[in-house]
Amino acid sequence: MRAMSEPSPTSPEAAFSPATPYRDVTCGDLRATDAGRSVQIAGWAHRRRDHGHLIFLDLRDRYGITQVVVDAEESPDAHAVASRVRNEFVLEITGQVARRMAGKENAELETGEIEVRAASVQILSEALTPPFYINEPDATTDESLRLKYRYLDIRRRPLLDRLLLRSALARAIRDAHHRAGFVEIETPILLKSTPEGARDFIVPSRLQPGSVYALPQSPQQLKQLLMVAGMDRYFQIARCFRDEDLRGDRQPEFTQLDLEMSFVDEQRVMDFVEAMIVDVSRAVVPDRPIQQLPFPRIDYKEALERFGSDKPDVRFGMELVDLAPVFANGSGFRVFDDALAGGGRVKAIVAPGMADASRSQIDELTEFARRFGAKGLAHVSLAADGELRSPIGKFTNVAAISAAAHAKQGDLILIVADADGDVVADVLGRLRQELGLRLGLADQNVLAYCWVYHFPMYQWDADRGSWDATHNPFSGVVPEDEKLLVTESGDPYKPSRQDPAGRARAMQYDIALNGWELGGGSVRIHKRELLERSFALQGYSLEKMHAQFGGILEAFDFGAPPHGGIAMGLDRWAALFAHQTNIREVMAFPKTQSGTDLMLESPSEPDPEQYSELGLRFVGLDAAESTSRPDAKQ
Ligand code: AMO
Ligand code: AMP
Repeated sequence: MRAMSEPSPTSPEAAFSPATPYRDVTCGDLRATDAGRSVQIAGWAHRRRDHGHLIFLDLRDRYGITQVVVDAEESPDAHAVASRVRNEFVLEITGQVARRMAGKENAELETGEIEVRAASVQILSEALTPPFYINEPDATTDESLRLKYRYLDIRRRPLLDRLLLRSALARAIRDAHHRAGFVEIETPILLKSTPEGARDFIVPSRLQPGSVYALPQSPQQLKQLLMVAGMDRYFQIARCFRDEDLRGDRQPEFTQLDLEMSFVDEQRVMDFVEAMIVDVSRAVVPDRPIQQLPFPRIDYKEALERFGSDKPDVRFGMELVDLAPVFANGSGFRVFDDALAGGGRVKAIVAPGMADASRSQIDELTEFARRFGAKGLAHVSLAADGELRSPIGKFTNVAAISAAAHAKQGDLILIVADADGDVVADVLGRLRQELGLRLGLADQNVLAYCWVYHFPMYQWDADRGSWDATHNPFSGVVPEDEKLLVTESGDPYKPSRQDPAGRARAMQYDIALNGWELGGGSVRIHKRELLERSFALQGYSLEKMHAQFGGILEAFDFGAPPHGGIAMGLDRWAALFAHQTNIREVMAFPKTQSGTDLMLESPSEPDPEQYSELGLRFVGLDAAESTSRPDAKQ
């Protein structure tokens, strides 16, 4: 090793190479052409096989595995050290590369044609027996152990490969954006409330006692301010924080690809995002075909009508069928007639090949439907011999239902009726997704991206007596709907259920991938007057609006360009690329379902000193619960 004071003699090439004072090459580098070369190599003892005078050590690092042979006769000192080695010891080894004996090659290893015959073995670090097998990555391992010893789980190939894939994804994203003239800008983490529909994580300020920062739920307002600043095209791989109930596709701390563009309309943003997505997909998962180009663009209402979902999995058909036309003169079945008379819907899906479903399978599907709000689930089966069977056959014309649904022999028709059409769509949409996966209708390899656009801008919140933004409070509505942003009362601050705002369509587009919501964005309002009108409909008083959004409202007085953008869930994208159903599997250090970090044991109690520095006093759990509000606005 060189003294620190010596100038570096290395070329940039050498400096960028994997060579270090401990190694010349990595455990994944050596090939047959290196035979005869003297090398120094370092890594973890992946496996050790002791054959008496010969000890075999598989040396592992993140690049690969290299077999080392320690021969008691060739190098007795090295052999003595190797006898003490246990799995996961960290070693530095010198030796000579040799071709393996004929027949002993390992085709599964890139280094499988060679071995290193050790001249010296040095133990750099000893290791305890790990809590799970590191050299058997497929061995089932308790999830909480994997989280507690995440650094050991990352030593194993499956998680390591997923983190490498995630890194490739981030790199491809950066490449594409730089090519399109985007500027990467970091926005603050210590911020102010940025409403995205969840609770904020807050951080008390020491210098401003009694005041708090909120961690960003997204960089929404900052990216809009960057457009006012003239940045034109911004992107960021942004960490976001949302205190909400966790699921497979949700973590309290997650990453968005966040972007914003100036002088654009919806088409222009979608065109860029689509091209970027194609580019990134081809760079990161070149073997996975994209189902359809250009991506299908489906109007929100049509998506609900056809798929019962605003994030449809378009890898398979099984679209919802409207049965109302079949019952133009009444169905004879009360449940159906009542639903239709009440302004509701009767719709069906056809599950191919499920005509023979057992009683208990039907019960299970019915239970599934009830869980999502259905009052029941009717079925008609068209047996292989063409016979129609159904518990509702005695009330209604099941042949007409079967014909309308285009059922084939062997199919099962599932029907939901409800006076609330949204329940019908939601339940059938979920059943469709579930059965599509169960029946293997969805090609696991295909990437089926699709756009859903023109979401309703607002939905009525009866408790608050205002129109909540269904997606993003800053979204604009399509120009021809701007006239709908008025109230019946004439007072913009007194919204009511009757206001035409409920019909306004947002310039909002979501991107779905294989049935997951991957991203969402919109063209924003860029005029102060209109934004104030929209916030008023959303239930903000002028005062509250200014307290919360004063900064951006003021900025709009100084010349804001028309602008729009999107944010995509990077964790979700990586998970879908890696064939995972939980985003934890593509995060280095995720949290558990209850938001804890099992490795570093957080959250943890603060030091009493921290409380006093921050001017805080812990009032105890009971008091904290009694003062906590139910879901606060936003
Ligand atoms: P939105 O709230 O739809 O939009 O978020 C964008 C995308 O972020 C991902 N996402 C999450 N991923 C993991 N865990 C979570 N808790 C979580 N929450 C959201 C999803 C989602 O589609 N500011 C707007 C974007 C815009 O309009 O530009 C926003 O944040 O994949
Ligand atoms: P019942 O006459 O209540 O036993 O119902 C007969 C069949 O209709 C059963 O298969 C029920 O599951 C089904 N059913 C009941 N309510 C609904 C509904 N709202 N939508 C669809 N099917 C229903």
